[in-house]
Amino acid sequence: MTYSKIIGTGSYLPVKTVTNYDLEKTVDTSHDWIVSRSGIQERHFAADNQKSSDLAYEASLKAIEAAGINASEIDLIVVATTSPDMAFPSTACILQHKLGITNGSPAFDIQAVCGGFIFALNTADMYIRGGQAKTALVVGAEVLSRMLDWNDRTTCVLFGDGAGAVVLKASDEPGIIASKLHSDGSYHQLLKADPKISMEGQAVFKFAVNSLSGVVEELLEQENMSGSDIDWMVPHQANIRIIEATAKKLGMTLDNVVVTVANHGNTSAASIPLALDTAVRDGRIKPGQTVIMEAIGGGFTWGASLIKW
Ligand code: UT7
Repeated sequence: MTYSKIIGTGSYLPVKTVTNYDLEKTVDTSHDWIVSRSGIQERHFAADNQKSSDLAYEASLKAIEAAGINASEIDLIVVATTSPDMAFPSTACILQHKLGITNGSPAFDIQAVCGGFIFALNTADMYIRGGQAKTALVVGAEVLSRMLDWNDRTTCVLFGDGAGAVVLKASDEPGIIASKLHSDGSYHQLLKADPKISMEGQAVFKFAVNSLSGVVEELLEQENMSGSDIDWMVPHQANIRIIEATAKKLGMTLDNVVVTVANHGNTSAASIPLALDTAVRDGRIKPGQTVIMEAIGGGFTWGASLIKW
């Protein structure tokens, strides 16, 4: 049986840091409100000339270096983004060009908003399991700062920019054990960008906690595992209260959860690979450990991936 193994991770945050105190100067908000309601202290905003593909490129270079491969070996690129460089071509094609990959292998974007990285990872995993790719680059990259409505204090304080990437390689050993994906379009009005982000926060919050704990339980049950088998949970970083409530429902403490929301804000599809890379590089996630990732985003879309590191 062929599995996909994550052999390298990388991430990139734009240089510009925007604190809650910075936002207080222009938005009717306060540091204390933002921290108490979301856990966010600061976020990064891309420079005017930086697009999602630029952030994706920096994260990809680091993941490729960590994987110890040559970019020319990559035979699939999947970019999860809800803030593509342009309507078309895909950010993945632009990234392929920036990386100097000329082998003609497929590159395409996935749009599942904050659930995007899980959807992209699962897609690349299916390519590898099916024998259509051997070395895949999966990226989450966002410049959500361009989609913020600065007159809506309920959303503009929550989001940030960044990118994270992983290199997947075909392997005889797991790897990605399994993933579960879900969507329910009847909720599409609750969280949307048309073209600026708007959200019914409390409704999203409630749905998030139930659906995230539900999909993790579904995946663990399928694999005859329980919360105690998990070394690390790497959740989508939208709100510390959602992360805490989901962990509690799963019988986990925050000691086993990677949390970066304070410094990154909600970076949508980039949040999981950013958090993952943080915990891999600081030595928390180690070979042989079991990791679960979970995310929910507009649509709604939600899902989880179970990984043997
Ligand atoms: O990534 C995709 C998934 N997204 C999410 O998971 C986000 C889910 N939702 C949330 O994280 C939370 O609902 C928020 C952080 C967005 C909001 O927290 P909340 O506890 O649900 O606050 P709320 O919307 O109930 O607002 C409470 C109060 C309101 O004032 P009143 O009506 O009680 O007087 C708001 O007007 O806080 C007020 N408020 C603010 N005050 C200061 C709302 N935004 C702000 C703000 N600064 N930025």
